[in-house]
Amino acid sequence: MSLFSIFVVAALFLSLCDSFKGPHVICDVYPKDLYVEQNSSVEIVCQTSCSNNGKVFWTLNGIHISESLSKTINATHTVLSLRNFTQSSAAVQCHSSYGDQLLGGVTIRTYSKPKNITCVLHYDVNKPNGVPKLFTCSWEHHMDSSQTNYTILNNSSVEICKSQGVNCTHNSTRLADDILDYMYFFNSYTIKVRAKTQYWETDSDPYVFDPHSITKINPPKNLKITPSSEHLSVKWDPDEPRCQVKYYKTSEPDKAPEVLWTNPSDFSISVFTIEEVESCINYNVSVRCASERGLWSEWSPEKTAFTKLSRSRIRMGLWRKVAELGKNGKRKVHLMWKGIPSTCREAFLVKQVAYNDNTTTGNYTYTSCGSSSCDVDVDHRSHRLYLTVSDSGALLDSVYVPAVGDASLPEVWSIKTTKSRMRGVIQVSWNVSEKPVSSYIIDWTHDGCRYFWKETTFTNATLFGLLHRTPYNITVTPLFNNISGHSIHANPFCSSMGVPEDIDVKVEEVDDKSAFVKWDIKSQNPCNDVDTYTIFYEAQGLQHNVSVSGSEDGVWLKDLKPNTHYNVRVQATGDNETNMSSKVHFITNKYDPRLIKALSICGGILVVLVLSIGLTCAVQWKKFNDKPVPNPRLSSVAKWLTQSHAKVEGFFQPTTDQIENQVVTGKTQRNRGAPLTPVRNGNDCDTSFSSLQENEPEERFSETSETQLLSSPEGSMVFSSSQSSPYRSQDTAEPLLEKPSKSDLGKKQEKTPMKSLYISLNMFEQSDVR
Ligand SMILES: *[C@@H]1O[C@H](CO)[C@@H](O)[C@H](O)[C@H]1NC(C)=O
Ligand SMILES: *[C@@H]1O[C@H](CO)[C@@H](O)[C@H](O)[C@H]1NC(C)=O
Ligand SMILES: *[C@@H]1O[C@H](CO)[C@@H](O)[C@H](O)[C@H]1NC(C)=O
Ligand SMILES: *[C@@H]1O[C@H](CO)[C@@H](O)[C@H](O)[C@H]1NC(C)=O
Ligand SMILES: *[C@@H]1O[C@H](CO)[C@@H](O)[C@H](O)[C@H]1NC(C)=O
Ligand SMILES: *[C@@H]1O[C@H](CO)[C@@H](O)[C@H](O)[C@H]1NC(C)=O
Ligand SMILES: *[C@@H]1O[C@H](CO)[C@@H](O)[C@H](O)[C@H]1NC(C)=O
Ligand SMILES: *[C@@H]1O[C@H](CO)[C@@H](O)[C@H](O)[C@H]1NC(C)=O
Ligand SMILES: *[C@@H]1O[C@H](CO)[C@@H](O)[C@H](O)[C@H]1NC(C)=O
Ligand SMILES: *[C@@H]1O[C@H](CO)[C@@H](O)[C@H](O)[C@H]1NC(C)=O
Ligand SMILES: *[C@@H]1O[C@H](CO)[C@@H](O)[C@H](O)[C@H]1NC(C)=O
Ligand SMILES: *[C@@H]1O[C@H](CO)[C@@H](O)[C@H](O)[C@H]1NC(C)=O
Repeated sequence: MSLFSIFVVAALFLSLCDSFKGPHVICDVYPKDLYVEQNSSVEIVCQTSCSNNGKVFWTLNGIHISESLSKTINATHTVLSLRNFTQSSAAVQCHSSYGDQLLGGVTIRTYSKPKNITCVLHYDVNKPNGVPKLFTCSWEHHMDSSQTNYTILNNSSVEICKSQGVNCTHNSTRLADDILDYMYFFNSYTIKVRAKTQYWETDSDPYVFDPHSITKINPPKNLKITPSSEHLSVKWDPDEPRCQVKYYKTSEPDKAPEVLWTNPSDFSISVFTIEEVESCINYNVSVRCASERGLWSEWSPEKTAFTKLSRSRIRMGLWRKVAELGKNGKRKVHLMWKGIPSTCREAFLVKQVAYNDNTTTGNYTYTSCGSSSCDVDVDHRSHRLYLTVSDSGALLDSVYVPAVGDASLPEVWSIKTTKSRMRGVIQVSWNVSEKPVSSYIIDWTHDGCRYFWKETTFTNATLFGLLHRTPYNITVTPLFNNISGHSIHANPFCSSMGVPEDIDVKVEEVDDKSAFVKWDIKSQNPCNDVDTYTIFYEAQGLQHNVSVSGSEDGVWLKDLKPNTHYNVRVQATGDNETNMSSKVHFITNKYDPRLIKALSICGGILVVLVLSIGLTCAVQWKKFNDKPVPNPRLSSVAKWLTQSHAKVEGFFQPTTDQIENQVVTGKTQRNRGAPLTPVRNGNDCDTSFSSLQENEPEERFSETSETQLLSSPEGSMVFSSSQSSPYRSQDTAEPLLEKPSKSDLGKKQEKTPMKSLYISLNMFEQSDVR
């Protein structure tokens, strides 16, 4: 009993206690677990019964929220209003203003509507277009983790399809009487996408569409591309009212492709042509189409097509070289062309048409050609050669070959080639005859196989990009009215010059103070040009150099030290290059070998002289001994003396001259006989000596005869009388003696007044000597 009452009391107390305490103590925030749509407003209530007074503040993710958003309704309830809430997840807490006591909190999560819905009515691949059997929609929806089920509903809330991803396809292939079959009856159709999770459900905004305009047909099939000489023709299945053709060079996949629209007229022909194509390259082509109002189909798979050579889209150049008329009456013509892409697979044909006095004979010859050149034979007549494409016969270009010796054609005169300051550049200029010329073709080659050419309207041209140090053959041909005149050839001309690779140095002659250095140049290259040679020679660490012009091939090094070791190098300097030979060594002599040679020659001559003088003396002595007394015939002189004293002087003058000669000769001998004074070098010595020997008899004779004639007009008489004189022997001995030097002759003339004094003395002196 008591126990029961105790229980009852306790229960009452507790309930009393509860009822007393409850409204004052409980504090909390609600609602709990809040899911709100993004950008919507949210209100949260904080129950503050447990707090002493109702004052609270709020935090969002730990950050104070402005008090203005908070509103106290009554003593126990405060409401927080958050507008346009966008955070995907946030913790909102309610705190008591006194003591910072946490009263409660809530986590707010947001969700969004499916957005940006796009739908397509389409067809199974491989199925013909017609009523579409597939309906696919996709949308955007940002979800965190929780699984979402999507449903597409029409405006009658009929479910069209369901999915758990952001797209969904309705397949009506097997469905009879399907919703899609009716869709085309509407001009506008409305759907919405419903997203549902276990916590929330939301519908997208309605999506309205025109079923025809979202219809996407299958891409075109059976693409057929036919290249022709000027374009590409494209065909496909099926014909659709609108199509686009996309094409790009296979080699340039990254470049934006060209897109062309077909228009209804194209459609009726159902063949589309791509006009703007380059020759001989691959193009990738694909096509897409659309129904009248529908979406573009996917692009068809790409097809690659190789274009043909198109004359109108290349800049081709055709030229020819004509050989001289051969013995067989034919001329070889080498045709060559450029500008045709190397990728072209076309074969070429040359049609040659000969002209006879202005009229074609109607006899054509065809020659099939290589890819960039052709050799044909023509006779002496003028010809036109047509280059055509073999299979299509399309004309590419033509070139004229003049008849042999056709004087009516323009001609070019005096071609001039000049080296440019730039390497590998030749400047050519020429003059032209007065016949009219519209332009010139200048062609050039370095190997006779590969030709380059260009056309100019000037009478000059600059050839660029030539190989260095290569001789080029250059030809200029005038053109007029598409007819070519007579060519002129320039001599082979070097594109640039270099110095030879090898300089071979030899020291050919070495003396004591000089040496002769000679060099040979060797070069693989024909284009050599040396401006200067610089010879560097070095001995005992002292370097010297001497420069000579590029035309020299040797030089005397002077002022060398005797008996010294030298090394020498030769450097060739050209336009823009230098090249150095390797070092060559030599040692100068102790003495000048030419001096020794000269000395020995002079010595030898001296010996000969001495011997001959000795011999002469011996002969004279012998004669003197035989005839010790002057010839009595001399007494006839006395007759002259009586006539005039002056005449005696005149008579004796020649004799005086002879004596003078002898004296002077003696002096010369002495000079020559001083071998230890090498005033002149050996060479001079040699030459003066030899010239003396050569000139001596003549000069001496003329000098002598001259003196005689000048000094005595009656010399003939003197001679006749003195011919039998024993003193003639003196004259005959004289040629062996030296002629006087010029200075000595001068002296002789100064001494002339004294001559008479010597006459008789000499006679006795001579006899004394002998
Ligand atoms: C929320 O509203 C702002 C401004 O009104 C807007 O910029 C934003 O896109 C909206 N967000 C969503 C999810 O609707
Ligand atoms: C305070 O307001 C809330 C909600 O409006 C209400 O439920 C509660 O009874 C009110 N309390 C008092 C004491 O008025
Ligand atoms: C909140 O959204 C309303 C409409 O929903 C809009 O008028 C208001 O400008 C938005 N406020 C902010 C701060 O984004
Ligand atoms: C809607 O989707 C399309 C493609 O699905 C996209 O190109 C477009 O940018 C999207 N629009 C927005 C507003 O996100
Ligand atoms: C549909 O969505 C899934 C992922 O949810 C994606 O893998 C697929 O490519 C989408 N299909 C289309 C047609 O957009
Ligand atoms: C549509 O359904 C048919 C028949 O079930 C099937 O063969 C076809 O592959 C489906 N198409 C798509 C796109 O799922
Ligand atoms: C989503 O769909 C699957 C099956 O289609 C179902 O099992 C699941 O309960 C659904 N989830 C929700 C949240 O409706
Ligand atoms: C060559 O043809 C021209 C016109 O083409 C004509 O005037 C001229 O008389 C012709 N000459 C000869 C020799 O036939
Ligand atoms: C063509 O030339 C050949 C020989 O070169 C000759 O026999 C023939 O008669 C010519 N034909 C014509 C139409 O000139
Ligand atoms: C250059 O022309 C000369 C005649 O002028 C000739 O002998 C030589 O073979 C030609 N050289 C080349 C490479 O054609
Ligand atoms: C031709 O010569 C003229 C004057 O000498 C010069 O101005 C011109 O540039 C030259 N042309 C070429 C292609 O060298
Ligand atoms: C000299 O030759 C070198 C190459 O061999 C070249 O680069 C340079 O330009 C030349 N200089 C002159 C002035 O030609």
